[in-house]
Amino acid sequence: MSHKVTAGPRAIDSGPVTRDGSPVDLYLRLPYLGEVELISAEIPNGASVLEMGCGVGRMTKELLAKGYYVTAIDNSPEMLAHVPPATTTICSNIEDLELKESFDAVLLASNLINVADDGLRTAQLKACRRHLKAAGRLLFERYDPTWLSTVEVGRIGTIGDIELFADGVSRRGTKVQICLRYEGPPGRWLQHSTVSVLDDEAVAACLSSGGFSNVWWINRTWGAATGVDNAA
Ligand SMILES: C[S@@+](CC[C@H](N)C(=O)[O-])C[C@H]1O[C@@H](n2cnc3c(N)ncnc32)[C@H](O)[C@@H]1O
Repeated sequence: MSHKVTAGPRAIDSGPVTRDGSPVDLYLRLPYLGEVELISAEIPNGASVLEMGCGVGRMTKELLAKGYYVTAIDNSPEMLAHVPPATTTICSNIEDLELKESFDAVLLASNLINVADDGLRTAQLKACRRHLKAAGRLLFERYDPTWLSTVEVGRIGTIGDIELFADGVSRRGTKVQICLRYEGPPGRWLQHSTVSVLDDEAVAACLSSGGFSNVWWINRTWGAATGVDNAA
């Protein structure tokens, strides 16, 4: 199945696209960028990890290779079809998840925390919280707020052998509508999204609404937090 996405006067054959606008074929092509090594000091050896919005399992594979027990959530069956079989996969919206089990770590990567709808963000963070053990940790990734506040139309850079461009950017208050174009062998993909700029203070506020406290930063984009009842 293929879906045509219009980019100005040209159409781009981008393959299946998820509800949040992520092209499946793009995520099959994007390289692993060392995210698990960056956060693994925060996750005990042999831990159970709930990965929210796992996509095709780009990070899942690396979590498994490090010996974690991974349950991977996505609302796209097309994405989940590619996740390694050693993973428990569940097709669900993050915000609706109601598992009996809780986990040592919950992972909310890929700037999902930047979702523009404040109510949806809180609902997703509450889902992360209700699946975290009392002594567990949330690991999250946001857009660098300075980058998101200043990015302009034009070439952004490369991810592996894929070139990244912003084809459209518009801003209203803290909301940013952005159309990203990925160009690389063997395809071209567009990803449209509307996201919120979240500075450190905004992150602390939304985490607090989701039932988290004690936020600390690993770098400008990755952070960790514990549940309000565990300020360890
Ligand atoms: C940008 S992709 C990133 C995938 C993966 N984390 C990675 O780094 O390669 C975001 C993924 O989150 C999923 N997603 C977005 N919003 C979701 C929601 N509310 N519930 C479940 N999955 C969601 C999408 O279907 C998509 O597969």
